[in-house]
Parts: sequence; structure tokens; C-alpha cells
Amino acid sequence: MTAWLITGGAGFIGANFVRMAAGGAVDTLVVLDALTYAGNLANISDLVDAGRVQFHKGDICDGALVDWLFERYSFDCVVHFAAESHVDRSILGPQPFLRTNIEGTYVLIDAARRAWQSEEGHRFVHVSTDEVFGDLAPHDPAFTATTPYRPSSPYAASKAAADHLVRAWQRTYGLPAIITNSGNNYGPWQFPEKLIPLMILNAIEGRELPVYGDGGQVRDWLHVSDHCRAIMAVIEGGEIGGTYLIGADNPRANLDVVRMICRAVDAQLELTPGTSEKLIRHVKDRPGHDRRYALDATILRTKLGWHPRETFETALPALVRWYLDHKDWTDAVRTGAYRQYYERQYAGR
Ligand code: NAD
Ligand code: DAU
Repeated sequence: MTAWLITGGAGFIGANFVRMAAGGAVDTLVVLDALTYAGNLANISDLVDAGRVQFHKGDICDGALVDWLFERYSFDCVVHFAAESHVDRSILGPQPFLRTNIEGTYVLIDAARRAWQSEEGHRFVHVSTDEVFGDLAPHDPAFTATTPYRPSSPYAASKAAADHLVRAWQRTYGLPAIITNSGNNYGPWQFPEKLIPLMILNAIEGRELPVYGDGGQVRDWLHVSDHCRAIMAVIEGGEIGGTYLIGADNPRANLDVVRMICRAVDAQLELTPGTSEKLIRHVKDRPGHDRRYALDATILRTKLGWHPRETFETALPALVRWYLDHKDWTDAVRTGAYRQYYERQYAGR
């Protein structure tokens, strides 16, 4: 019998991962998620209702609950997604980022350390981000596993701290941990505070498209399904103590991404070409805004045989279609609290 704990499995990447894992051979899939504003049980409710996923609503900082879950299910593998994940929110209020991302990661790795007497048959995969490395100048080489940490935002600093804890627990206590650092994800079930879903929904609804600064910041975009397949590959063949960078070699400037979204929305809604682009507005830049990220995923490609399958050119228009087809979901997640956040983040910018 195999049992995996997936923290944050009702969030964007976690839910996509749970859906992928549910089609595989793991006997018991357990999701622990606090259902913060970013978590939504609807993302996986079909699997919970069908008995394929055991859902526990709870906080990763709750040590007693985490210990109880380890005892009850005897996990072979933990895939740790749960986090506060939005850079802009970390600038508005960093405290929850320190709590969940640092303290919550500590609670999980320490529970795993105490529960697992040997490395044999156990894996703790800590899902992290390229933002821990800070940013790159235009011609700098891409990040690798040995790039020094230089986080810029409270979010990135909290993820960097969590990575350091995981490495220390691996080295000192022999925790069978692996760290993954991925670039910006896009795909279904992404909460519409992040660039791509926010721009898709605003363009569909004819609202302004707020581009920070000159829009020349470059991100290395990765489809969420390619990210989830990479994590699967790391669980199956990754080296304990290893760090795997996950990137699709798909660098794009924000303004180019927004223009692509505009073209896709115009096409799907049969609007005159150029209609949505008129909604673009350059607004005040994000403080401490990283200029460029790029990841070198050579190790993942050569050692674990992973390759991205999706391309932006086809996946982005398909994603616009997904958001058009899931209006109930987008209406449900954009609650009053979302509108308050939006107002606070964008009013007067
Ligand atoms: P998300 O914000 O969509 O989802 C986070 C999930 O964690 C939500 O379901 C939320 O309810 C849950 N959560 C938050 N605090 C919790 C707590 N204290 N206890 C239990 N559950 C809690 O995030 P995402 O975009 O899916 O990111 C998942 C992970 O991947 C994060 O660790 C993030 O740092 C990392 N990551 C994200 C990206 C990206 O582009 N989105 C890229 C690289 C790495
Ligand atoms: O690089 C990986 C990271 O990608 C993850 O670790 C984070 O969890 C995830 O949120 C994401 O961080 P970013 O800050 O890069 O993503 P975001 O979608 O917030 O912004 C992408 C870029 O678009 C960034 O340069 C800021 C810009 N932007 C964003 C928003 C929301 C805008 O220009 N306008 C906006 O309204």
C-alpha cells in the first residue's frame, strides 16, 4: 500500500498535481489544505466525492494535526505545495508568508523526520520557486542549482528560508528530501490574482489590463501539466538531497504575454483584432520588481528524461477558452474579499 500527502492540494498547482496523481497507481492520496482565499475544494471535489482523494481541511502549522496524519496514513511520500504564493500580497502584508512558508515547512519536515526511521521508500518533495535566486541582467546565464540565493520580495525570502530548512534537515537528520525550483506556471484553476488569469478575465470583461512599469520584465513560463510531470519524474528518479530546476526555456516579456492574451481573447470572442490591446495600461511598478528569470533545466532533461510538452502558442489560446468555459468557477473565486484585494492593489496605481 502506498500513501502520499499532498499539502496545498486544493490550490492551483497542487490541484493539477492531485488530478494527475489520481490517474496513477498510488493507493491513498491525502490532501491537507487550509482553504485560504487561494484554495478551493471545487478544484478537486469530483475526486473527493469519488473517494479517490482523502481531504483534510487544516493548517500545515498545526503540528498535532500533521503528526496525527503521519500516524494515521504512514505516508511514503510528501509533496509540499502549501504556501502563500503571491508576491504582491507579500508586499502588502508579509506576516502570513513567514508563518505558512517558513513555520509550516518546519512543522512538516520535522514531522517527517520523526515519523520516518529510514530513507528507504520515503520521499519529501519541497516545491519551491526560481524567485529564491533573485533576478538576472539581460545577458546573465540562466539559474542553476548552484546559483546563490538572493531573494528580492518577502515571498521569495520566505521560500528561500524554507529551502534552507529543508536542506538542513536533509543534511543533519538524513531527511529524504528533494527540492524543486520552477518558473512561472500557467494553466487551469489558477487564481485570478496572477498575471495570466487576471489579464484573461479582464480582457474578456473589457476591463483595464494593468501592466507594471514598462512591461519588459521577463519570466520563464511553464505549463502546469509540465510542472506536475516534472515533479512525478523527481519522485520516481530524483536523487535524495538533489535540487531540480524546472523550466521550459520559454522566456517572455510581460507585455508580449499580455499582447498574446489580447489576440487570443479577440479571436475567441470574435472581436475586431486590436480591441483588447486598447485596454492595456502601464501602471506604477511593483516595488523591488525582479527584471528577469531564466532556468537551466539540463539536469532534469538529461538525468530524468523530462521534456515540456506544451507550447505557449497553443496552450495560451486553449487557456483563454478554459476560462471562458469555467465562468461559474471564476465567479465563485472572485468573492468580495477578492474585490477588496483588487481595489487595494490597483486603485490609484
Ligand atoms: P496557490 O496560492 O494557488 O495555492 C496554495 C495552496 O496552499 C492553497 O490551496 C491554500 O489554501 C493552501 N495553503 C495556504 N496556506 C496554508 C496553510 N497554512 N496550511 C495549509 N494549506 C495552506 O499556490 P500555487 O501557485 O499553486 O503554488 C503552489 C506551490 O508552488 C507554492 O509552494 C509556490 O511557492 C510554488 N511555486 C508556484 C509557482 C507558480 O507560478 N504559481 C512557481 C514556482 C513555485
Ligand atoms: O517565478 C515563479 C513565481 O511566479 C512563483 O514562485 C510565484 O508563486 C508566482 O506568483 C509567480 O510570481 P510572479 O510575481 O512572477 O507572478 P505574477 O503572476 O504575480 O506576475 C508575473 C509578472 O507580471 C511579474 O513581472 C509582475 C507582472 N504583473 C503582474 C500582475 C499581477 C503585472 O505587470 N501586472 C499585474 O497585474
